[in-house]
Amino acid sequence: MVSALSVVALTGLASFAAAKQIWIQVGGNTTDNASAVFDPQQVTAKLNDIVFFNFTQGNHSVTQSLFATPCIPANAANSTINGFDSGLRDAGNFTAVTQLSVPITPEIENMTLWFYDYNTCGEGGVGGINVNDSDYENLDAFVVSTEKHVSCQQLIP
Ligand SMILES: *[C@@H]1O[C@H](CO)[C@@H](O)[C@H](O)[C@H]1NC(C)=O
Ligand SMILES: *[C@@H]1O[C@H](CO)[C@@H](O)[C@H](O)[C@H]1NC(C)=O
Ligand SMILES: *[C@@H]1O[C@H](CO)[C@@H](O)[C@H](O)[C@H]1NC(C)=O
Ligand SMILES: *[C@@H]1O[C@H](CO)[C@@H](O)[C@H](O)[C@H]1NC(C)=O
Ligand SMILES: *[C@@H]1O[C@H](CO)[C@@H](O)[C@H](O)[C@H]1NC(C)=O
Ligand SMILES: *[C@@H]1O[C@H](CO)[C@@H](O)[C@H](O)[C@H]1NC(C)=O
Ligand SMILES: *[C@@H]1O[C@H](CO)[C@@H](O)[C@H](O)[C@H]1NC(C)=O
Ligand SMILES: *[C@@H]1O[C@H](CO)[C@@H](O)[C@H](O)[C@H]1NC(C)=O
Repeated sequence: MVSALSVVALTGLASFAAAKQIWIQVGGNTTDNASAVFDPQQVTAKLNDIVFFNFTQGNHSVTQSLFATPCIPANAANSTINGFDSGLRDAGNFTAVTQLSVPITPEIENMTLWFYDYNTCGEGGVGGINVNDSDYENLDAFVVSTEKHVSCQQLIP
């Protein structure tokens, strides 16, 4: 009994200790390259990790979307999905730095979470959490599909 309980306790401790904070900077110089808005553009995050979006420069949003419906909030495309959405945040030039946190819960641990910036989505201002590079739904393919969706500028994040 004692050893079984110890194993449970150790397992709990191990998964707690393994949880990571993963940071994506939101800002950068988007003059010639809108993809620079998210640095890095894609990350890997496991169960209980927390992805932090650090708004540092410029006027941007981080809004979850679906691969098939880029530049549109996931919730607008499928109302059962309660996607993350920072709304537009103007960080100035490091003058109003804020963070949005996305905890990786069991519900989303095995999903690719695509996201975009409202102001640069059609130009490459997109990224992903837990992207499968071998799949046809990869980051390059998402960028290409968002560039075809110029209509994104009309939708409120
Ligand atoms: C951003 O990039 C453009 C083009 O490369 C450059 O002219 C500009 O000085 C850069 N801005 C900053 C703040 O680095
Ligand atoms: C644009 O920025 C992205 C993200 O930082 C980078 O991976 C890519 O190489 C850049 N493209 C160019 C043409 O500099
Ligand atoms: C968030 O951005 C601020 C301003 O650039 C920077 O000082 C800080 O180190 C960033 N935090 C992380 C954990 O990257
Ligand atoms: C931020 O971007 C939004 C959407 O493009 C725009 O309506 C708003 O005026 C911008 N805010 C600032 C301070 O530039
Ligand atoms: C909406 O998302 C749910 C999962 O959250 C999925 O089961 C359902 O098939 C989706 N609906 C459509 C129309 O894609
Ligand atoms: C932004 O702030 C940095 C120092 O933090 C400065 O070097 C840079 O020139 C500023 N850029 C603009 C466009 O004001
Ligand atoms: C996610 O995938 C892992 C590995 O295949 C599996 O152990 C876990 O149960 C999955 N999580 C959910 C919520 O399906
Ligand atoms: C990644 O995508 C490839 C191609 O669709 C697929 O064979 C593979 O199982 C995927 N890997 C994961 C971890 O889902």
